[in-house]
Amino acid sequence: MTSQSNPKHLKFTAALTPKSLSRICATLVVCLVATGFGTANADIIADRKAGFKRNADSMKAIAAAIGSGDYQTVISRAEGIASWASKIPSYFPEGSDSGDTKARAEIWFEFDAFKAKAKANETAAQTLVTAAKSGDQGAMMAGLKNLGASCKSCHSNFKD
Ligand code: HEC
Repeated sequence: MTSQSNPKHLKFTAALTPKSLSRICATLVVCLVATGFGTANADIIADRKAGFKRNADSMKAIAAAIGSGDYQTVISRAEGIASWASKIPSYFPEGSDSGDTKARAEIWFEFDAFKAKAKANETAAQTLVTAAKSGDQGAMMAGLKNLGASCKSCHSNFKD
């Protein structure tokens, strides 16, 4: 079927005059400004801060749980940290360095290095899970220490 034999198509094409096109574009720009980038960034910054706050809570909970022998809590909290670590890079889209954030611009200059820090954090959390499953308290203490070091290592490079 050619476009000429399709009246619907013809009508649509006729409606897209340069004037109407520019009106559509203008509307789009207004929408983007109103709902768009600023708000999206604020949301993602708030979301990633919540993720990191949960991490800090989990580190405290893990330390207490190792002490009290509640290894199930060690496992679930460390799994939570590992899961968040795997998502960290996706919470740092380009342009999300402005606003109420301590993220350093270096994150986007050296994104591969940033991702490697997240990966190291994930691996350290998984090592702690393995230690907790084995019930070896000494291994859990060592695992928690390494995990903490992997948090700090990213902060000292990429967080103000
Ligand atoms: C791959 C890098 C990376 C890793 C790994 C990482 N962080 Fe962070 N963390 C950041 C960055 C970047 C920020 C700043 C986020 C912002 O302000 O937008 C941050 C912020 C924080 C904050 C402040 C949140 C707030 O409310 O402002 C806490 C607390 C925190 N991290 C704890 C941790 C803990 C605990 C771990 C390890 C279990 C960890 N982080 C692992 C990069 C990392």
